[in-house]
Amino acid sequence: MTFVAAPLQFSNKTELYAGLAEQARGLLHGERNLIANAANFAALVWHAVPDLNWCGFYLYDGTELVVGPFQGKPACVRIALGKGVCGTAATTRQTQLVRDVNAFDGHIACDSASQSEVVVPLFDGQRLLGVWDVDSPSIARFDDEDRVGMEKLCAVFMASLA
Ligand code: SME
Repeated sequence: MTFVAAPLQFSNKTELYAGLAEQARGLLHGERNLIANAANFAALVWHAVPDLNWCGFYLYDGTELVVGPFQGKPACVRIALGKGVCGTAATTRQTQLVRDVNAFDGHIACDSASQSEVVVPLFDGQRLLGVWDVDSPSIARFDDEDRVGMEKLCAVFMASLA
């Protein structure tokens, strides 16, 4: 592998997510192992995206979501489908953009520092693989550009497994 992580310079979110998508493609290229790519993906985002306190995967085990590779403090291990922001993303198949987690009915507080959150559902066709969860200690840290950017990054991640 010849990938070398270059420091990411960006002056807006469009540049940040475009640069990150390119880095993710390079980082994951040539490897299809789920855990390896999930771990590297989480580390890449953690070091590039400002103002996060947690980012990582919950993977579907056929029954519920189980914590996977992540960066940040230790987190809740299992989340039932339909529960919390993660379980809601999995069952609705819609990215959840939560500007204030305290206003989200049923939010699961793994880290009390989390104030806002984006969760992208990961589907391989009809098959639920899991969700990608990004938390911030700032209220309203994420907007629609982050939602779109995270969805594009997740598309790069999913493509790496194909
Ligand atoms: N807040 C999430 C739980 C996972 S942690 O944020 C890492 C939820 O409500 O599903």
